[in-house]
Amino acid sequence: APIRYEAERAPATCDGSVDTNHAGYSGTGFCNGRNAVGAALQFTVDAPQAGTATLTVRYANGTTTPRPANLTVNGASAGSSTFAGTGAWATWATATFTVPLNAGSNTVRFAPTTAEGLANIDALDVETGGGTTTPPP
Ligand code: GCU
Ligand code: CA
Repeated sequence: APIRYEAERAPATCDGSVDTNHAGYSGTGFCNGRNAVGAALQFTVDAPQAGTATLTVRYANGTTTPRPANLTVNGASAGSSTFAGTGAWATWATATFTVPLNAGSNTVRFAPTTAEGLANIDALDVETGGGTTTPPP
């Protein structure tokens, strides 16, 4: 099962404000990034072993314009991401990315590339497929 990391909870850092004015978020709020190029949201996530992980970002974009961002994992580019309009700020959707993670702690950073900044971001779910096994009797 994935592990959820809340955008408003340290060690995540939100270049903006943690807000609660649009319903439907998980945890205690969401990251409302500053509307500026480079106003990033960074998560720190754990992986049990090195390998490919699926990242699922829960976000809202109450505009009709997609909000693109560079995705960086452990300081290396992991491609670009885009957060399409969801119709309203209280309407949340998910966007999924596949990235390489190291064993142990990893940084996952979304840095917007337009002056509109990021979408509002609620949380990041990380599926490492690590799982656990039960030894046979
Ligand atoms: C509105 C909305 C914010 C959002 C902002 C934006 O102000 O209430 O939650 O972050 O638009 O355009 O980024
Ligand atoms: Ca914003």
